[in-house]
Amino acid sequence: MLREQPELMESAVEELLRYAGGMQMASFHYTKEEVEIGGVTIPRGEVVAFVLFAANRDPEQFENPDQLDLNRPDNSHLGFGLGMHNCLGQKLGRMLTTVAIETVLERIGDFQLAVPADQVHWRPGALLRAPHELPVVFTAKS
Ligand code: HEM
Repeated sequence: MLREQPELMESAVEELLRYAGGMQMASFHYTKEEVEIGGVTIPRGEVVAFVLFAANRDPEQFENPDQLDLNRPDNSHLGFGLGMHNCLGQKLGRMLTTVAIETVLERIGDFQLAVPADQVHWRPGALLRAPHELPVVFTAKS
């Protein structure tokens, strides 16, 4: 789709950051005072971990959240976090993501996973989300 409609690149990058961004959780935050969120009382001084991946699939925020829509309108995702400690490098992150996708599309012809998707090994840990390796088969660009 991106090969045929390169003008979608900007919204595609946002959607990929929403749908499969690199950080599952924001950095840890602390409550300065007791707060109630969704009926749960969190005491003062507690560590709070925001699960960005859950927020980015919130059905109240995104229509068909589990669907990848490269042309998704109003895509205010939290792939870079939120608030005063949101990602300082987000401009660069967007740029790197764009260049990476453009380079793959430019240099490689057709490509697909070389193993079934459920055999891709993911790095352990709750913070980052990335595969250990991603075996693909591809054809040279004609
Ligand atoms: C696509 C690439 C990237 C993603 C998905 C990403 C995502 C994030 C997320 C989710 C946070 C936590 C925000 C929060 O706690 O609310 C963060 C923090 C941060 N990121 Fe990134 N990031 C990316 C690239 C970069 C790059 C390229 C740099 C620097 C060159 C960078 C520098 C930082 C810094 C310094 C913070 C901490 C900000 C603070 O605590 O005030 N990030 N990033």
